[in-house]
Amino acid sequence: MIPLVKPYFPSRDILMPAIEEILYSGYVAEGKPVYDFEDKFKAYVGNENSIALHSGTDALHLAYILAGIKPGDEIISTPMTAEPTNTSIKMVGAKVVWGDVAPDNGLLDPKSVRELVTEKTKAIVVVHYAGMVCDMDEFNKISKEYNIPIIEDAAHALGSKYNRKMIGCNADYTIFSLQAIKHMTTVDGGFLTMKDPSQMDRARRLRWFGLSKNKSRMENDITEVGYKYAMNNVNATIGLVQMQNIEKLIGSYINNGLFYDETLKGIPGVELVRYNNNTEASYWLYTMKVEGRDNFCRMLEAEGISASPLHHRSDTHSIFNESKRELPNMERWYKSFVHIPCGWWVSEEDRQKIVDVIRKGW
Ligand SMILES: Cc1ncc(COP(=O)(O)O)c(C=O)c1O
Repeated sequence: MIPLVKPYFPSRDILMPAIEEILYSGYVAEGKPVYDFEDKFKAYVGNENSIALHSGTDALHLAYILAGIKPGDEIISTPMTAEPTNTSIKMVGAKVVWGDVAPDNGLLDPKSVRELVTEKTKAIVVVHYAGMVCDMDEFNKISKEYNIPIIEDAAHALGSKYNRKMIGCNADYTIFSLQAIKHMTTVDGGFLTMKDPSQMDRARRLRWFGLSKNKSRMENDITEVGYKYAMNNVNATIGLVQMQNIEKLIGSYINNGLFYDETLKGIPGVELVRYNNNTEASYWLYTMKVEGRDNFCRMLEAEGISASPLHHRSDTHSIFNESKRELPNMERWYKSFVHIPCGWWVSEEDRQKIVDVIRKGW
């Protein structure tokens, strides 16, 4: 079976000595490997203001705190995502306001968002779902016009670009996930990047109980609740080894994605997505719309290929009952979108087989 997702780890002879060394080093909590990993990550996304965390969910929580979100505030978001984008809005006591999605790519639609902005709106969270990048030209305009920060959930979008620059160096806040099945995994892990360097010190204290690492424990004074969100040296060591191969790893997803964009064109029953202007996807999953999705998935499965929508829309969960509203484009998108395997494990032979099987019909 060609799976839809699969964790990538560098070869045993490179990774295992590094893990063994850190495990027996006497220092496995947050330390030098974490800061070295941060340096590599900063260079990769092109943003000095990046901190390593234990998960993407932690990064979302801290982004909402740093954006100044308070109980009762509203954040405009999308249901077309994994749950943590929105459950973490609840962590700061804010209300989720659902924007509708664009019918031709399932990404949050700026036109819908514009209609929802009120004086209660304190942030907009855009999700670069499956590695496709949202319409940042329009979202940046909205952000400027109403003075509302944009939080980018780029859990699926490491290596995606806007205006030829890496996602992670453009927005007020961007979060990444290094969880098991993402482009790059550290088993678990996350990153938060931000525009304003003056927020970095607070971000660092928030990730470690509210304590400052720049002072001794005796001199520390906790002035605000902090969390246990730090990355540890073991996860960071895996990250450091992963970074040696990052261009090639992400390049393999992109290469397969671009192949599908060309070869799936014009197949009856398949509708390819529209990519937004000035954006480049990193194809964490290959996304498209198909007629008769259940049959499509069954037919691929019979041929040894996984295909599925993967994520459950977030607005059906009871904790979001107060936010319920009609989302006609989401309704339609949700019935027909599907993912096919696109990552590093999909060989040239596999991807050709996938296209040939789809071309035969279902
Ligand atoms: C879109 C999205 N946002 C946030 C997260 C949270 O990341 P993590 O699992 O690292 O907490 C995930 C993944 O799990 C995700 O898919």
